[in-house]
Amino acid sequence: MSTLNGIPHAPGAWPLLGHGPALFRDPLGFISSSRAHGDLVQIRLGPHPVVMVCDPDITQQVLRDDRTFDKGGPAIERGMELLGNGLTTCPHSEHRRQRRLCQPSFCPERLSDYAAVMSAEAETTATSWCDGRVIDVNREVTGLAAQALVQTMFSTALPSSTRYRTTSDLATVLEGIFSRMVLPPQLTRLPTPGNRRYGQACSRIRSTIRNIIAERRTAATDSRDLLSTLLGAVDTDSQGGDGALTDAEVVDQVVTFFLAGTDTTANTISWALHLLSQYPRFQERLHTEVDHVLAGSPPAYAHLEDLEFTRRVITETLRLYPPAWRAWAWATWPGRVRARVS
Ligand code: HEM
Repeated sequence: MSTLNGIPHAPGAWPLLGHGPALFRDPLGFISSSRAHGDLVQIRLGPHPVVMVCDPDITQQVLRDDRTFDKGGPAIERGMELLGNGLTTCPHSEHRRQRRLCQPSFCPERLSDYAAVMSAEAETTATSWCDGRVIDVNREVTGLAAQALVQTMFSTALPSSTRYRTTSDLATVLEGIFSRMVLPPQLTRLPTPGNRRYGQACSRIRSTIRNIIAERRTAATDSRDLLSTLLGAVDTDSQGGDGALTDAEVVDQVVTFFLAGTDTTANTISWALHLLSQYPRFQERLHTEVDHVLAGSPPAYAHLEDLEFTRRVITETLRLYPPAWRAWAWATWPGRVRARVS
C-alpha cells in the first residue's frame, strides 16, 4: 500500500474539522459504523487523512509490526505535547532502550511494594463508603487510581496540597486529551477557559515532576517508589553516556505512567463492580474467595496468585469492556498507518 487511492472515505466529514466532531460526539458509534465501508477506511482528523483499520487480521499485522507501522502522525504529535517522548509515544527506534530502562520498575519485588500502597489506598476509599450512601462509582475509583499512582510514584514526596492538585490536574488532562487528538490544533489553541485549564494542568504536572526529580537527585535516597527506580535505572547495553535516563526522559515516563495507568485501571474497576452488581451469584463467590484467601489480613501482592476467581472476573471485565480503546485506537493506529501510506 503506497497511496491512499482506492481506500473508501467514511461519509460525514466536516469542512476543516473532518470527522473530529463525530469522533468526539459518539466515538464508539462512529468507529463501529465505519466497518460497513471496508476493511480499511479513510477518515480525516482536521485536515489530515488517516486510515482506520477495521479488519482483525490487518489490525494484528499493524500492531505486531511496529517497525513498518511506526508511531507518528497528528494524533501522536498532539499526545506528545503532554506526554513528551515516553514509552507510549516514542518511535520504534527508541522504544527498546526506553523499555529496558523502565523494566526494573516493574520487577516482582517492586510490584509487591506498590501493591502495599494500593491496598492502603483502596482501604481508605472503601471505608469512606457506607451502606445506603449513593456514590458515583467511576468518579470514586478514578480518584482512587490517581491517588494510588501518585503514591506509588512519589511515595511521601508530595505534600498533601500538591498531591490533591496533581490528582485534580490529572483528571483535567484525562478529560481533555482525547478531544485534542481528534480536533484540529487551531481549535484546541483558542484561549477558551477549557483550553487554558488544560494547558495550566499540563504545565503544573510537568513542573511538579521536574521539581521532585531535582530534589531526589540532590538527596540521592531510594524511596522504593517508581520514581526512585526510574532515576536509578541504567542501560548496560547503552553505547556512550552512562546509560541512565535523563531528567527530561524521566519526566516523560512519569507523565506517561500517570496517564496510562489511571483511566485504564479506574474503568476496569468500575466495569467489574457494575458486572458484579448484575450477577449477585458471582459477587458472593468472589467475596467467599477473598475472605478465604486473605483470612482477615489486608490484600497483598502475595495473595494474587490464590485469588483465581477474582482474576477471572477481571479478565472477563477486560474482555467485555476493554479500557482505553478510544485513546489507544487513535493514538496508535492512525499514526502507524499514516507512516506507512505516506
Ligand atoms: C487495566 C489496566 C490497564 C490496561 C487495560 C492497559 C492497557 C494498555 C494497552 C492496550 C496498551 C498498548 C499496548 C500496545 O501499544 O501495543 C498499554 C500500554 C502501556 N501501558 Fe497500560 N494498561 C493498564 C494499566 C496500566 C498502568 C497501571 C500503567 C502504569 C503504571 C500502564 C502503563 C502503560 C505503558 C507505559 C504502556 C506503553 C508500553 C510500551 O509501549 O512499551 N498501563 N496499556
